[in-house]
Amino acid sequence: MYFSIISVAFMAAVLPAIAFPATSKTSPLKDAEKAVPGESPLFGTYMGKKTPLASNYTKVFPKTGSGPAGADDLLFQNLLAAEWIIYSFYQQAVEAFNTSSFTDLGYPNTTYQRIVEMRDNEAGHVRIFQDQISDNSVTPGPCKYGFSTTQLEPLLWLSLQTYLETASMAYLTGLVLDASLTVSKSALLAIGTVESRHNTWSLIDVWNTGPFSGPSDTTYPYPNQILDATNAFVIPGSCPSENPVYPNPTQNLPQMGFVNKTGTTGHPGSKISFRYTDKNNKPHWNATENYYAVFFHGLNNISVPYDPKKNSVTIPKAFDLDAGLIIVSIANKPHAPTEDSVVAGPLILLEQPELLTMDSPTFAE
Ligand SMILES: *[C@@H]1O[C@H](CO)[C@@H](O)[C@H](O)[C@H]1NC(C)=O
Ligand SMILES: *[C@@H]1O[C@H](CO)[C@@H](O)[C@H](O)[C@H]1NC(C)=O
Ligand SMILES: *[C@@H]1O[C@H](CO)[C@@H](O)[C@H](O)[C@H]1NC(C)=O
Ligand SMILES: *[C@@H]1O[C@H](CO)[C@@H](O)[C@H](O)[C@H]1NC(C)=O
Ligand SMILES: *[C@@H]1O[C@H](CO)[C@@H](O)[C@H](O)[C@H]1NC(C)=O
Ligand SMILES: *[C@@H]1O[C@H](CO)[C@@H](O)[C@H](O)[C@H]1NC(C)=O
Repeated sequence: MYFSIISVAFMAAVLPAIAFPATSKTSPLKDAEKAVPGESPLFGTYMGKKTPLASNYTKVFPKTGSGPAGADDLLFQNLLAAEWIIYSFYQQAVEAFNTSSFTDLGYPNTTYQRIVEMRDNEAGHVRIFQDQISDNSVTPGPCKYGFSTTQLEPLLWLSLQTYLETASMAYLTGLVLDASLTVSKSALLAIGTVESRHNTWSLIDVWNTGPFSGPSDTTYPYPNQILDATNAFVIPGSCPSENPVYPNPTQNLPQMGFVNKTGTTGHPGSKISFRYTDKNNKPHWNATENYYAVFFHGLNNISVPYDPKKNSVTIPKAFDLDAGLIIVSIANKPHAPTEDSVVAGPLILLEQPELLTMDSPTFAE
């Protein structure tokens, strides 16, 4: 009773504030050039189909200084290049869909609104990451991105949204290991918690499943390997010529998918066989070396011997069911102790919601 009185009082206090911007007649876009994330509705509640980003922020900024690069410039160049992909994924959906795209399929009538709000947040991330890069480094601009027509079909789009937001937690927490400055680590955490809310929204409202992923999200120690996989969305040759290579440095690892054999569920305890999806970049197996499928979940990893000829391993049964994701890479040392011990992957298996494990899109296919 006590709580419901509090929440009624809270709602009464907050509702007029929520209602106010909707009745305002001037478009918040007129202030886009001066908008600051955290101080503008453009990065939170703006509902327009047009991008909240002013045109002077949707391009590459060549470096203007000649001093040493900022300590975390490289990290934020990589992260901004990734963010242009995520932001475009949302912006394309805002343009392609409307409220009835989702209500027609039985999803809540707030689904489209949430997608627009998340687009606003991602545009804010673009601006935040731009501001983190010093004048002594290039600030990457957007390329053109292809989310195939099927991925812009509402249900597949929602699946990929859950996949991308969950995967983003794995590379954001991994990037904390690479950050030099404490303020950068704090910024990564502050952004990561927002991506986690985007994912939690989809678990509750879209998939009608539990919102929690267990005690810890999965962290992957070599985030550039995940970022490299997101190049699948970049239309080749479409990036501004001044953009740095993405990600930098890149290992250009063979990308992995999985074979959907009878009996494979993609869940802990089930067998899995991999596909090396790029015909121009297959692993070079060395007959005298031993290989391991290294499975990451939460803060842990479990190594399973991997014979490339048999190409069949069991996903560790120890990992929680229906919780977050499992990432698997092939390494030439148990537990993949260094970045260059990884020889293929990573493959990200979405475990939550379970109904998507076999059917959600992956970066590789
Ligand atoms: C964009 O335009 C605004 C308003 O003129 C200006 O304050 C801001 O510095 C510009 N930003 C860039 C990156 O050009
Ligand atoms: C939503 O989009 C569909 C397909 O483009 C269109 O037929 C419909 O009229 C739109 N609905 C609204 C409310 O704009
Ligand atoms: C949205 O759905 C909720 C509950 O399902 C309903 O109460 C509300 O009237 C709906 N709003 C609109 C604008 O359709
Ligand atoms: C294969 O691995 C062995 C042992 O690690 C190494 O000495 C050899 O150079 C490798 N061969 C190739 C072709 O990479
Ligand atoms: C994998 O887990 C082991 C402990 O089991 C740990 O020593 C190792 O650092 C972890 N590997 C990575 C790449 O995080
Ligand atoms: C995986 O295989 C099962 C059983 O053969 C099939 O029902 C399912 O549609 C397949 N999923 C994909 C993504 O191919």
